[in-house]
Amino acid sequence: MSESNSEELEIGEFVRVLKLKHGYDFGEYAPASFKRRLRALCVRSGAASIAALSRRVYDEPAFLRQVLAGLSVPVSEMFRDPWVFNTLRREVLPILASYPRILIWQAGCARGEEVYSLAIMLQEEGLYDKAQIFATDLNDAALEEAAEGIYPAANARQYSENYLRAGGRHSLSHYFHARYERIKFDAALRRNITFASHNLSTDGVFAEVQLILCRNVLIYFNDALQDRVLQLFRDSLVHRGFLCLGSKETLARSAVEAAFDSFDGPARLYRRRAPG
Ligand SMILES: C[S@@+](CC[C@H](N)C(=O)[O-])C[C@H]1O[C@@H](n2cnc3c(N)ncnc32)[C@H](O)[C@@H]1O
Repeated sequence: MSESNSEELEIGEFVRVLKLKHGYDFGEYAPASFKRRLRALCVRSGAASIAALSRRVYDEPAFLRQVLAGLSVPVSEMFRDPWVFNTLRREVLPILASYPRILIWQAGCARGEEVYSLAIMLQEEGLYDKAQIFATDLNDAALEEAAEGIYPAANARQYSENYLRAGGRHSLSHYFHARYERIKFDAALRRNITFASHNLSTDGVFAEVQLILCRNVLIYFNDALQDRVLQLFRDSLVHRGFLCLGSKETLARSAVEAAFDSFDGPARLYRRRAPG
């Protein structure tokens, strides 16, 4: 058997063991990037092969956390793609302002950079007090960091530039304290954020929300899983609710395309159609 065939078999076995033992299903992730992350996880955890990883998943329950952290790519930045946040601020928040309560789901929140960005924008538009943001991810280690709101000070300059380009009204430093090599966002920004573990591959719909932000997550999934997740989003949104995807993600040719109108093409913003 060729080396690549045996690696494919080992990957298949790894996926089966992870599902059987822990209920996490990575069977519908895009194969090339999944393989890259598995190989990196072998190196980081000192496993000689993917088969050795499977054995550890089977034998050591505590290894799961490291596996999930290794398979997830919690790379993000504050006000990532500032024009998208600018569009949310100018075009979407004024519409959400008409609701008595604003419910937002940020799926795949990684270490929370985008969720603090949303909280700041809502605060500046006078909407934060009536907002509730559910920030979810399958990577518990990243979620714990998100709840801390602490980031490397070296990122502050990029975040500040993004914030201003996204229409920020102050200086970003208004919202954090710098200490040594870290910046820590004010606890007040977290008061209406709920961080929670949620797996888009297997878990169910969320509360009826008016905005879902799920950016740079679908790119890791194959077409079937993308369709499942997009149906979950459709079913979690109120009529006329908004969905914001990443710059390389689209509803075009998906199972839910007909349920949405494009609201802003470049910002990958869609709006759920009302029935009838
Ligand atoms: C590249 S980050 C995107 C972060 C942020 N949304 C952004 O665009 O900057 C992708 C995130 O998706 C999460 N993710 C991957 N598969 C997931 C799943 N099945 N359920 C929930 N989150 C998932 C990863 O853990 C990771 O934190």
